[in-house]
Amino acid sequence: MQILILNGPNLNLLGKREPEVYGSTTFEDYFKALQAKFPTVELSYFQSNIEGEIIGKIQEVGFTYDGIVLNAAAYTHTSVGIGDAVKAVETPVVEVHISNTHKREDFRHVSYISSGAKGVILGFGLQSYDLAIQSFL
Ligand code: DQA
Repeated sequence: MQILILNGPNLNLLGKREPEVYGSTTFEDYFKALQAKFPTVELSYFQSNIEGEIIGKIQEVGFTYDGIVLNAAAYTHTSVGIGDAVKAVETPVVEVHISNTHKREDFRHVSYISSGAKGVILGFGLQSYDLAIQSFL
């Protein structure tokens, strides 16, 4: 089973960025823990701060992979293009967020991803990614 974890803008700063919201673990370290936890899953990881690169990656894997775990970060709340890409591909996409976006500012309550997603997992810290992978098994 091939699953891509796709992270959007500023998630390369996990561990340093607002640790009170996002925790103090880097995604690279967490990704190693996920690989160890799911040895039978072929997990890959891509992060970009650029909207078009995220769309390109969804298109690239979206007809062959078994799942995409997508945290589009701030683009969640703005990007019609990423939302359309999620709807355009065959691979199911699970939308994840580290924080509970509904407990935060109003602009974070809107998602352009959710209507095309298989499901949404948010508010469980980095464990949101683990739960999303489990949803594909
Ligand atoms: C986030 C929530 C977004 O509102 C924010 O812009 C992020 C991270 C989360 O994982 O909690 O960058 O997607």
